[in-house]
Amino acid sequence: MNAVTRSIKIAPSLLAADFAQIKDQIELVESAGADLLHLDSMDGRFVPNLTWGPKIVADLRKLTKLPFDCHLMIVEPEKYVDDFRKAGADYITFHYEATPHAHRLLQYIRSIGAKAGVGINPGTPVSMLQDLIEDIDLLLVMSVNPGFGGQPFIERALTKLHEARKLRDERNPNCEIEVDGGIGLANIERAVSAGADVLVGGSSIFGAADPQATLRDMRARARATRG
Ligand code: DX5
Ligand code: ZN
Repeated sequence: MNAVTRSIKIAPSLLAADFAQIKDQIELVESAGADLLHLDSMDGRFVPNLTWGPKIVADLRKLTKLPFDCHLMIVEPEKYVDDFRKAGADYITFHYEATPHAHRLLQYIRSIGAKAGVGINPGTPVSMLQDLIEDIDLLLVMSVNPGFGGQPFIERALTKLHEARKLRDERNPNCEIEVDGGIGLANIERAVSAGADVLVGGSSIFGAADPQATLRDMRARARATRG
């Protein structure tokens, strides 16, 4: 297949932001060059934590033009994708482990005009996506167990990024590969070398003394690595 030019994207995760100052926090990362905003919805069932649903996403939609990368850590995601799309989600990523009908759901998400993403937990091999890859716009390799920010990066994710890139290059070159969990200045170059195109950063960005400088540095290192 022909080579496809994919740009590196940095996606700050609002999970680590201060919601009492959310407008300022979004402006901070937007003006520092964020490419996407990563929004983590958790239901207390798929993961042992709770965050927000479509109402909050719709309210945040009024604050920025950045594309919304909605990461659904919820069981039965098929029940909620319409609501997230109406709320302004540009990418809708559900978990492979959260539904028996990943194939149908990927096609449905595309049919409502969003980019269709599927994520895999650290315990799920990339090979489980063999029969889905043509229907995936964003393949999310989790590099921590989902549910919480601030956890250490699981090194095995680098092998999985290699495997994901191989599968993508062979079968669906337009698909982007995202990595989420424990990404920061210490490992962003290795994640990009392994195959990541979209880098999620929560605590590494919002928890930094200078979030804007950190984001710019992450972006510069990632782009220099990709070349
Ligand atoms: C975790 C979420 C992540 C989280 C990452 O389940 O999916 O998006 O915000 O946080 P950090 O970057 O702190 O690991
Ligand atoms: Zn996430």
